[in-house]
Amino acid sequence: MKALVLAGGTGTRLRPITHTSAKQLVPVANKPVLFYGLEAIAAAGIIDVGIVVGDTADEIVAAVGDGSRFGLKVSYIPQSKPLGLAHCVLISRDFLGEDDFIMYLGDNFVVGGVEDSVREFRAARPDAHLMLTRVPEPRSFGVAELSDSGQVLGLEEKPAHPKSDLALVGVYLFSPAIHEAVAAITPSWRGELEITDAVQWLIDAGRDVRSTVISGYWKDTGNVTDMLEVNRLVLETTEPRCDGLVDERSDLIGRVLVEEGAEVRNSRVMGPTVIGAGTRVTNSYVGPFTSLAEDCVVEDSEVEFSIVLRGASISGVRRIEASLIGRHVQVTSAPEVPHAHRLVLGDHSRAQISS
Ligand code: DAU
Repeated sequence: MKALVLAGGTGTRLRPITHTSAKQLVPVANKPVLFYGLEAIAAAGIIDVGIVVGDTADEIVAAVGDGSRFGLKVSYIPQSKPLGLAHCVLISRDFLGEDDFIMYLGDNFVVGGVEDSVREFRAARPDAHLMLTRVPEPRSFGVAELSDSGQVLGLEEKPAHPKSDLALVGVYLFSPAIHEAVAAITPSWRGELEITDAVQWLIDAGRDVRSTVISGYWKDTGNVTDMLEVNRLVLETTEPRCDGLVDERSDLIGRVLVEEGAEVRNSRVMGPTVIGAGTRVTNSYVGPFTSLAEDCVVEDSEVEFSIVLRGASISGVRRIEASLIGRHVQVTSAPEVPHAHRLVLGDHSRAQISS
């Protein structure tokens, strides 16, 4: 069995974070979301992985390399334009050959991995096995309609009037029958070859299409609250460790991971929290539920329930909470007079100011 991981496409939903970089590399608890997918694939016993890449290919290749650190053998499959998930299968025909495969969307996060689904698929060998989850806003997803006995009756991509609240999670298991389906369908209203249409083609052709409903799922719906929530969930499983420097005036409480080269001085860090390599925390209160990425500076500040990306600095600010702070952002306190906010916000930024 092989894996096809989709890491091309464009990232409009997590703007401005994804204006300049691949959405699959957005970190959850200081680790790119794509890495959790690759680890889940390795844990399911799959070694051969093809990664579909687009405009952000260089960044993905730099992050993943040959895959050996995940125990994987990774090949890259360039896609000239994001023409749809079924298009990704079409262009990966040579890589996939006649093998069964798992298709994993690189911007999806599945709590609990995919081992059970892979095992179930291997035992039953249907033509397609879908993973579904209940969501409050099905219109942003592919939506499945199931019979009372759990059989997949039909699928619709981002329907205006969803027939259920069961969204397609971005993990699919396929037999080689899918190749006939992706070759038979035509582009949808949004100009993409939809994998939902290909699976619907299998259903219409009377092929065996099964599903499992899971809980514990996240994707980049652009909802920062969701992202903070998945960050919280993953942080709660972090093993506490201190590879950096913590001075005697500081307190680490609960699950705190201080990575190599990080420094904590005269500060209190409440777990679960991760302090990235090379980050300096001084005279501050950090956590709980906070990820500070590498090379950040937090001084004379308080940061709680937030994600702070690489190279950001927060100085003299009390108190930041429920925030997503991008790479190399600087947040500082304003002078007492005039009582004014000075902002340099990139396109699509959002700021909430208490004054
Ligand atoms: O995340 C689950 C949803 O993913 C499903 O519920 C939908 O049925 C499915 O169509 C898909 O919907 P999205 O429109 O949200 O997919 P998105 O454009 O975000 O692409 C998913 C991943 O695949 C992402 O990592 C980018 C990559 N991709 C996407 C396209 C369209 C490619 O590599 N090439 C592409 O052509």
